[in-house]
Amino acid sequence: MPSRLPAVTQPVTSAPAPGARHDTTALLRGATASAYTETVRDVVDDVAARLRAVTQPFSGASRSELQGLVDAVDLDGPPSGTQEALREAADLYAKHTIWFHEPTYAAHLNCPVALPAVGAEAMLAAINTSVDTYDQSTIATLMERRLVDWTAGRIGFPVTGRADGADGIFTSGGTQSNFQALFLAREKARRTGTRLESMRILATAVSHFSVAKSALLLGLPDDAVVAVSTDADGRMSPDALAETLVDIERTGDTVIAVVATAGTTDRGCIDPLGAIADLCDAVGTWLHVDAAYGCGLLVSTTRRHLLAGIDRARSVTVDFHKSFFQPVSSSALIVRERTDLAPVAWHADYLNPPENAEPNQVDKSLQTTRRFDALKLWVTLRALGPDGVGAMVDAVCDLAAAVHQDLAHDNDFRLVGTTDLSTVLFRYQPEGLDAARADALVPQVRRVLFDSGRALVAKTVIDGRPCLKLTLLNPDATLADIRGVLELVRSAAHGLLAGEALAGTEEPPCRDVHPRLARADLDGAGLDHANLDHANLDHTDLDHADLHRTDLTTELDADPDTDGETR
Ligand SMILES: Cc1ncc(COP(=O)(O)O)c(C=O)c1O
Repeated sequence: MPSRLPAVTQPVTSAPAPGARHDTTALLRGATASAYTETVRDVVDDVAARLRAVTQPFSGASRSELQGLVDAVDLDGPPSGTQEALREAADLYAKHTIWFHEPTYAAHLNCPVALPAVGAEAMLAAINTSVDTYDQSTIATLMERRLVDWTAGRIGFPVTGRADGADGIFTSGGTQSNFQALFLAREKARRTGTRLESMRILATAVSHFSVAKSALLLGLPDDAVVAVSTDADGRMSPDALAETLVDIERTGDTVIAVVATAGTTDRGCIDPLGAIADLCDAVGTWLHVDAAYGCGLLVSTTRRHLLAGIDRARSVTVDFHKSFFQPVSSSALIVRERTDLAPVAWHADYLNPPENAEPNQVDKSLQTTRRFDALKLWVTLRALGPDGVGAMVDAVCDLAAAVHQDLAHDNDFRLVGTTDLSTVLFRYQPEGLDAARADALVPQVRRVLFDSGRALVAKTVIDGRPCLKLTLLNPDATLADIRGVLELVRSAAHGLLAGEALAGTEEPPCRDVHPRLARADLDGAGLDHANLDHANLDHTDLDHADLHRTDLTTELDADPDTDGETR
């Protein structure tokens, strides 16, 4: 066992003299195993305490307050030691983070994480495998490949292990998976003589922006991504796709890929995959299905049919960190034919020379050093079983359906469209409120909720009109929880409208002199977690509390794009 080295008390500012010994007591190894246990236990205890205490998804601290806290840390200052550094980080990060497990967090595509996956994350972080070459990752490589096969099997791809069987690779997220898929499609076309200038990708206008960004990064022309028309809910129209294919054929350009989305980011709608696959087969074009959001249906026992036709894709994006309750990052690109991955392979003498017969995952990846994210999914499947995960996916879809029902009968709100998954789009627009004012309320309401930290909702634009969005990915959230969020939305909207009416006739109320309108005291020391509940205005007070937000209207009107974020 190596001996414990003396601790360094002064910061190391210059290179040590030759022969001088470095302090390695902070490195993880056998000799520091006890310190490792203590360190991780302290972190776990702290996070556990916060999880028990937390009652809302965000502290509500303003960006300038957070900036002050961040700037106050001297990164070149004297070292404080592991414990103190972690304590300091928890006081910054954990105290002011966004908690995705809170039932009133309903903004973006973030899910609460499965406990077995969090345990696995601790394991893989400490062991620190890089799943690039087999000689660095051994069994991790084999486990990742097994999960790729499992996912391909769920999609319905043939998993033969032969050259014509399915394959894939874990990636950092849906953006990278989509990019890699389109890179493979571009290379297939390029290698058969298609020029970059004539390459076209067909998708809908509501496909994820990573499709357009990929086209840019792949050197395709600015107009390479052609928007195919949709039905009223944003699903790709097969008729429109057929027409667009014909139109592009006539111009002499080449469609290198059609991107269908199985779960659009805003509406959670699934393109008609079977009909799209028919057309792609007919013209021999690459069908990529972006199932970053909808992949959870692969394990649903009641909704798997919504993905019918996904097995006819040539490549599929799956984001386990969206719909499989996995910690970020955990995503994969799965291809129907393993030879399609070949263009990614790049050989280096030091790493993976071509004569190397070992299963090197780096040959299939855009990354070289890569996390063993697959371990988290592995442990989750073993702990909960695919049906256990699928039941949670069904629960969030059921919840969204129930919220849709509620809103359909609420005169203050207008539902915007429908969903196949778990988003809810809506506007606060009671009878008599004109559309322009309802438009303006969308960012303001979102902002009031964000500032309060009590509930987080998103906003987006559908068919040219702003609306609020709930993304429900928490199977623990109840209908009552989401009704609570909707009540906060209603109260905030009432408050904003009342404040606006008052502003026309009275001096603007000043929150600094009114004890009930004052914001929580968030001085440099950070806000006291235990007092958060009291510091934040309670729900029934929102109507009054938001009176001070009359100034917000001007701010937002002045610069709607910033959504007043800089405060
Ligand atoms: C449909 C869809 N595809 C791809 C992505 C990108 O995924 P990631 O954020 O993991 O890169 C998203 C993200 O929201 C998405 O909704």
